[in-house]
Amino acid sequence: MTLRHLILSTTVGSLGALTACGYCPPSDPESFWLHDDVTEADVQAIIEEYNQARFAIDCDTVCEYKYFQDPGNGDWMSPHAETCTLELDPEPAEQPEDIVGDVTCEGEAYDGERTEMCEGRRPLGHVEPPSDDASLDAVLARCAHLEAASVVAFRQLARQLHGWGAPVALIERCLQAAAEEAEHARVMAALTKAHIPHTDPTPTEETLFAVALHNAVEGCVNECWAAMLAFLKSRMARTPALRAAYARLVDDETRHGELAWDVHRWLMGQLNETDQQRITEAQRAAIARLPAVARVQAEWLPQAMGLPAPAAAAAMARRFGAGLLAA
Ligand SMILES: [Fe+2]
Ligand SMILES: [Fe+2]
Repeated sequence: MTLRHLILSTTVGSLGALTACGYCPPSDPESFWLHDDVTEADVQAIIEEYNQARFAIDCDTVCEYKYFQDPGNGDWMSPHAETCTLELDPEPAEQPEDIVGDVTCEGEAYDGERTEMCEGRRPLGHVEPPSDDASLDAVLARCAHLEAASVVAFRQLARQLHGWGAPVALIERCLQAAAEEAEHARVMAALTKAHIPHTDPTPTEETLFAVALHNAVEGCVNECWAAMLAFLKSRMARTPALRAAYARLVDDETRHGELAWDVHRWLMGQLNETDQQRITEAQRAAIARLPAVARVQAEWLPQAMGLPAPAAAAAMARRFGAGLLAA
């Protein structure tokens, strides 16, 4: 499946402080286990909140719903079930309190951060500007900043690949992507009157392993998710100017996500098995964390961006993540 197909299939029916990071490791996830009855009222709430038909309700969704029923679990968290079993009557019960099934699930919960409200490809050593203003103007300025940072990211990647003798076609695609990101930065900058922050990356080690790790997370997961969100915003944003801006970005971002996977395959081919394993694990963790990221984005991004409600955004990210893993 191509990234374009994955984006389309995922969206069907749904339409501070300065921190320096290259690869930003997710904060440690918390383990959870739950076993609970499912009532007819729960099913009705899930249908409404997650916009799912009764027959399509899956174990992960029920698990997440039940997880958030516990007031001790903050709504910026995102549970990722490693094992999940669901029994559910196909027919609705008469009374809301009637028990219609049960769910058992176990896994880890990840937390999202507000620094992830804007998407793009961060270079190694990227310095995140403060993200305490969630007004549309300020968010667009940060998005313009991140598009400009993506220019640096692709130039950096082209230089690194050149140094390791990678195929010329891959290097040329990175340079082409850098030129496209410069255009994205202009498109985003034209939408805002707010000051566009500028930060330079801090010097970071550029071993093949470090670059492969960064690409596996920042390119293969985060930028693919950025392509997915650009698609969503190009259809769902509340103003014609925003929809038009994201429509200009979406094809490029989709190609950039695919480029990341092609670079990933080449870099992985240069590494030993232990390093490959570490990278695959980090990539899986980033995918598992996507629903938490989506939840934070849906919570904090201005409504004008047209994102779905947090629960629906998290469910979409879960489907998208599953698609990335399957591909
Ligand atoms: Fe971009
Ligand atoms: Fe991009």
